[in-house]
Amino acid sequence: MGSVFCCPNSCLRQIMDKNNLPKFSVLPKHVGIIMDGNGRWAKQRNLPRYKGHIEGAKTFRKIGEFAADVGVKCLTFYAFSTENWKRPQEEVNAIMELFREYLTEADERSAENEEKGITLKFIGDKSGIPEDIVGLMNHIEQISSDKSKVVLNIAINYGGRHEIANAVRTIAEKVKYGEMEVSDIDEDTISDYLYTKGMPDPDLIIRPSGECRLSNFLTYQSAYSELWFSDVLWPDFTEEDFVKALREFENRNRRFGGV
Ligand code: IPE
Ligand code: IPE
Ligand code: MG
Repeated sequence: MGSVFCCPNSCLRQIMDKNNLPKFSVLPKHVGIIMDGNGRWAKQRNLPRYKGHIEGAKTFRKIGEFAADVGVKCLTFYAFSTENWKRPQEEVNAIMELFREYLTEADERSAENEEKGITLKFIGDKSGIPEDIVGLMNHIEQISSDKSKVVLNIAINYGGRHEIANAVRTIAEKVKYGEMEVSDIDEDTISDYLYTKGMPDPDLIIRPSGECRLSNFLTYQSAYSELWFSDVLWPDFTEEDFVKALREFENRNRRFGGV
């Protein structure tokens, strides 16, 4: 890990610089992160909930970059679920405004991402999202290179059950029009009709904020994911917390039903 550095009150702080990144004996091919706890972070500080989302967005940028630097090739960040529309309109609007800002910035910095080999993708039902945001998402996906080293998925208006229902509907239509046989449908067929088609299943799912549930995240894909929970609220989540999750993953014994 990075160098040890002395601050004035003599506390020791480990700084991770890009030339001195932690190494791992095994890395997950795909990490999913449920970015939770923004509202509680704001409440602890007597701030409106949207302030927590602003801080959470900063953490997303920081952890996304760090994860790519340590060598994770596929990342999925859960940003907004199909259930989050139930929240007060004011909060939903604030979150949408943050997406707008982030996407505009990502569009402006597309050359930088290209250079770093990072491709942004979006998973979820685009039909429920404001049109201008969908326009930005489509534009960013179109200009992204297919040859990149890291895929960064952002799950917006994403729900695992909704995703499975859509896949089943599409497959049923193919059968109806004679394009597929019922006997051809297996586990891989379902995977091929999910938003994550062609990507490895998440080996590791991280959820901060103290909640120990998946909340409709990558429902089909998480069948054999390792789960890592932390009490830290997402805006407070650091590179060190991410390293802790990866260290624990290194030591997990994955059996997949074998011995
Ligand atoms: C996660 O933080 C962000 C979204 C779900 C959009 P929350 O807003 O759920 O934060 P808590 O769980 O209320 O603290
Ligand atoms: C899950 O968090 C969704 C996202 C982080 C985008 P929630 O805060 O919506 O989950 P619940 O309601 O606690 O299960
Ligand atoms: Mg929450």
